[in-house]
Amino acid sequence: MTKRKGCRNWRWLALWWHHFFLLWSTIDGQTRYSITEELKQGSVVGNLAKDLGLGLSEIFDRKLHVASEAGEQYFSVDAGKGELVVNDRIDREALCGQSANCVLPLQVVIEDPLQLFRVEVDIQDINDNAPRFPSNEIILEIAESTVVGVHFPLESAIDPDVGSNSLKSYTLSKDECFSIRVKEVAGGRKVPELILAKVLDREKKAVHKLLLTALDGGSPVRSGTAQITISVLDNNDNVPAFEKTSYKVSVSENAVEGALIVQTKATDMDDGQNGEIEYSFGAHTSDAMMSIFTIDHISGTIFLKGKLDFEANANYELDISAKDKGIPRMEGHCTVHVEVIDVNDNAPEIILTSHPKPVREDSPNGTVVALISARDLDSGDNGKVRLQLPKTSQFALKPSFSHNYALVTSGPLDREKVSEYNIEITATDSGSPPLSSKKIIPVTITDVNDNAPVFTQKIYHVYLKENGVPGAILYSVSASDLDFGENAKVSYSILDSKVQDVSVSSYVYINSDNGSIYSMHSFDYEKLKVFQIQVQAKDQGSPSLSSNATVHVFILDQNDNAPAVIYPSSAAMGSLSHQRMPRSAKAGHLVTKVTAVDADSGHNAWLSYRLAEATDASLFTVNLYTGEVRTKRAVSEQDDSSQRLLIEIKDDGEPIQSSTVTVSIILEDGLHEPILDLRHKVAEPSKKTGRITLYLILSLASVSVLSLVTFFILAVKCIRNSRSSSTCCMRRTDSDDYKNPNRNLQIQLNTDGPIKYVEVLGGDMLSQSQSFRSCMSPMSEYSDFTLIKPSSTTDFKEVISVLDASLPDSTWTFESQQIYSLPHPSSSLMRLNTGIK
Ligand SMILES: *[C@@H]1O[C@H](CO)[C@@H](O)[C@H](O)[C@H]1NC(C)=O
Ligand SMILES: *[C@@H]1O[C@H](CO)[C@@H](O)[C@H](O)[C@H]1NC(C)=O
Ligand SMILES: *[C@@H]1O[C@H](CO)[C@@H](O)[C@H](O)[C@H]1NC(C)=O
Repeated sequence: MTKRKGCRNWRWLALWWHHFFLLWSTIDGQTRYSITEELKQGSVVGNLAKDLGLGLSEIFDRKLHVASEAGEQYFSVDAGKGELVVNDRIDREALCGQSANCVLPLQVVIEDPLQLFRVEVDIQDINDNAPRFPSNEIILEIAESTVVGVHFPLESAIDPDVGSNSLKSYTLSKDECFSIRVKEVAGGRKVPELILAKVLDREKKAVHKLLLTALDGGSPVRSGTAQITISVLDNNDNVPAFEKTSYKVSVSENAVEGALIVQTKATDMDDGQNGEIEYSFGAHTSDAMMSIFTIDHISGTIFLKGKLDFEANANYELDISAKDKGIPRMEGHCTVHVEVIDVNDNAPEIILTSHPKPVREDSPNGTVVALISARDLDSGDNGKVRLQLPKTSQFALKPSFSHNYALVTSGPLDREKVSEYNIEITATDSGSPPLSSKKIIPVTITDVNDNAPVFTQKIYHVYLKENGVPGAILYSVSASDLDFGENAKVSYSILDSKVQDVSVSSYVYINSDNGSIYSMHSFDYEKLKVFQIQVQAKDQGSPSLSSNATVHVFILDQNDNAPAVIYPSSAAMGSLSHQRMPRSAKAGHLVTKVTAVDADSGHNAWLSYRLAEATDASLFTVNLYTGEVRTKRAVSEQDDSSQRLLIEIKDDGEPIQSSTVTVSIILEDGLHEPILDLRHKVAEPSKKTGRITLYLILSLASVSVLSLVTFFILAVKCIRNSRSSSTCCMRRTDSDDYKNPNRNLQIQLNTDGPIKYVEVLGGDMLSQSQSFRSCMSPMSEYSDFTLIKPSSTTDFKEVISVLDASLPDSTWTFESQQIYSLPHPSSSLMRLNTGIK
């Protein structure tokens, strides 16, 4: 410090010497002093007295003083030494401003005599002012996008000093982005300019602080500084950046609407609007995707809006863009991969790959009915499908390649039982929980001719009145066939057989379409009582099937025969027959017996006798049933010897047929043994009557024998084994015996009202072998007795049924059922029913 002070003193000394010589030079012309400004008060400018040539004494005496032209007294005269000294602070800048020369003119006055001297003091500049900026703080705002090289003029600093002491240069604190340049404008003013040397980046450095220094050329150099604060204005130069360029998420396909998919996040380093981010889907996002997903524009969260379907789309790729709000808007992108996770949401599906074919009912196992495939839209286990048929099914599934199956038959089919199957197939997947679906496959079974036509009855019984009109419908048989179509179309025919040595086809014919049987004859019961027809029903299948049925035609008796008088015999109706009786006869004397037969049967042959006319009606009476003519009272002498009786014989048919016989009786005196006579008369019938009587006797004899045998055998059998049976019957399983037709004899003791008769049947009555009829003895209660002799062998069962059927009015109780249940149908049977009322 001290050293420096010393150095300054030396400089002041040098300055002094310089001024001194300068003073010398001015005395010649005009006294001129040169001083530097800012000298200390009392500093000597020059020895005025000496320079003006005045003695020291004169200074005082003549009152030397300085009058300033300007108001201010900067100088004064030291009276003692005659020196001009600085009286006040002299600031050149204040006196002369920026002008290069600054001369202060002084008037030096001496009185006695008044003398004026002009003295000039040249004020020399010293570097007493530092450059100064108008403001210490310069604030600039520069956009960060500003191109390099752009210059920003700054306010220049001011240095009141002149010359070399004035402002010379500027310097700038170090900053890589800026440099400084000085531009001289008119008037020599130096204007500093800030030049952008490097592009600004607000995001790196938002504010630049620089120190601008202005330097003058003085010595020592003085400087002034200003603080430059540069705010970098944000420019939208940053793209919003996502945290990840790609997001990967997995979402279950059953995610509900509104479910969060993923949260995307982007950041933008820019400021304000430039950094405000708005999220959206990429410009090329399809409407379909937008219908499924939605994005929150502010938060960037992606939500589920629609429904996911793994089967429709298992993966989605969403372009997300984040845009800031700067101008222009900057945009960043990322991708969101959404993987849809399969859920077992699809039931398996059964697809018919071929339409089900109709199947023949005789199809063997393994016949393919339909081809089926199964599929499930799900994947993995959720898509594994298992097919099932009901446990009891006539069908099976045969797997072929992948998910294909053949539906095949695996059991017997019968169209007649089930003509159409609705096969229910269940498909189940292996998901958890498993889903299943069902499909019904209709399969029609086509007919095969496996059923023969079946008659409604195996045996038909037709009752046909005799004397019918030829061509009338006799009966209609019908057969049905369980098959279908042609296989069920039945046609009827009559199998050829013989009836009384004549082909059956001459008796009847059949309508082949509907089974109506027509008679071609008028039948006479008295000639043909029963015959059978074999009808066949045949279907139209290929090969055709047929079945047979038997139609038993029973001719029903009509009352078409009038009673025929056998006794008393007469050649012609109404002819006389003479009977003799004694006059001595008492009341009740049997005169004669009228015997008549009727070719009809049953009621039509039930004869009754009535006395229609008589010479003396009080004398004779006719038994209504037996035809016996007896006296009512004893014959008296007054009675005519010749009596005439007209006896009417009527049957019980509808209409009633009758005939009459006239009996003439001669009363004789002295006539005896009337009964013997009668027996004689009885034994003396015509040849025909005699034969009948003989047969009758034979029949009765055989009946008696057979009855005994039957009773005996039945008794034995019943005791032995037939405890439960209500009917005592004899069964013989010896077929050899059966073969003998004579053994197949049946005796019927029938009752028809008050009339009782016995029919003895043997073998095949259907063959219409012989029928014997006999008049019973007049005393007997039996009025009719029929014997049917066996002729040929046939199924015994049939015989019984025929018998059963042939007597519709019968009070017989045939145990048909029991008979049918015989272990051997062809066993012979002998049976006697004695249930006479
Ligand atoms: C058909 O298949 C079923 C079931 O597999 C079997 O029970 C039946 O015996 C088979 N029938 C024939 C004729 O093979
Ligand atoms: C059968 O057809 C004939 C002629 O068409 C007809 O007269 C008859 O009544 C039919 N029979 C039946 C049972 O329909
Ligand atoms: C039907 O009768 C005929 C003639 O007697 C015979 O040839 C045929 O086999 C019988 N058909 C049936 C199914 O019994």
